[in-house]
Amino acid sequence: MEAAALNALHNERYVLGEDVYKFEEEFAAYMGTKFAVSTSSGTNALHIALLALGLSHTDEVITSPFSFVASANAVLHAGATPVFADIESKGFNISPDKVKQRINKHTKALLPIHLFGHPCNMREITVIAEENGLKVVEDACQAHGAEYYGQKAGAMGDVGCFSFYPSKNMTVCGDGGMIVTNYEDTAKLAAKLRDCGRKSQYEHDVVGYTSRLNTVSAAIGRVQLKRLDEWNKKRVENASVYEQFLSGINDIGVPPKGDSNLKPVYHLYVVRARKRNELREWLLNSGVQCGVHYPIPIPLQPIYKQMFEYKGGEFPLSERASAECLSLPVYPTLAREDIQQVCERIQEFYLKY
Ligand SMILES: Cc1ncc(COP(=O)(O)O)c(C=O)c1O
Repeated sequence: MEAAALNALHNERYVLGEDVYKFEEEFAAYMGTKFAVSTSSGTNALHIALLALGLSHTDEVITSPFSFVASANAVLHAGATPVFADIESKGFNISPDKVKQRINKHTKALLPIHLFGHPCNMREITVIAEENGLKVVEDACQAHGAEYYGQKAGAMGDVGCFSFYPSKNMTVCGDGGMIVTNYEDTAKLAAKLRDCGRKSQYEHDVVGYTSRLNTVSAAIGRVQLKRLDEWNKKRVENASVYEQFLSGINDIGVPPKGDSNLKPVYHLYVVRARKRNELREWLLNSGVQCGVHYPIPIPLQPIYKQMFEYKGGEFPLSERASAECLSLPVYPTLAREDIQQVCERIQEFYLKY
């Protein structure tokens, strides 16, 4: 990464240099899509993708209440309204049945999120979109390399969006994002929107943004992309070690597993625990880093409550997930013994409480 970054610094334009276009080409090839357009963040990727699909201010986009806030913020940035459909009772992803219930004449797009690296039920979501003439924007910001019936997460909708924030399965060592699509007009408009709406150097035919990925970051991204599959494999192995050690503990709900058609990449390994707060405290005091993703469903974030008057109780499964979820360490360099130790601490907690 250092060599690639220095090479870009010494030899390329800082903005839209050669490495940016090479990273886009290589990412598209990895994803099996015709086009990839890089952006300065995952949020910007979602924002620009929605604009490139032609959203207007009267449109609604159906998405999940249980995600990082950026998924819904991007809809607001694009001038449309996020409408929430609760998650499935198993796992943490949006429920296709609940999506159906939220469709009306204003609905323009569906924005499923492959949360924690676990692919959504895209078969049903794609059928719902087709039947109702809706666009599909996949938020694959946590799912680089995940697969669903032979296709990559992010490559199944009209567009797919990725984040390269440092905590993701691959990063550009800073903020960065990518839009993938098979539609040339969408890719061209997205590329224009992220580059100030340029038709030529000082001629602008759309109102664009300064949302480009910088060249040094792209050079680093190219190096990371080569390691992605190997790191994902390690995450999957780590998840199966957890599964083995945790399945005997009644109070812990392990995340849904993959199979030959559905291949999650465990951006996070998220268990459910009824005494989540106490367990988290216990683990932190034992030196085990763990986190809560996410403690507040998006509609109950202060700004969403203020804007849309959500009171709580509208999305019970998301609220329950927020109260029970606990993310355990799953990063690729974690050793089997480390995982065993984490699980032993969890066992001790349940023996004591
Ligand atoms: C599900 C999801 N959507 C969108 C984003 C936004 O990405 P970024 O932080 O790169 O703007 C993130 C990442 O943080 C995410 O996890």
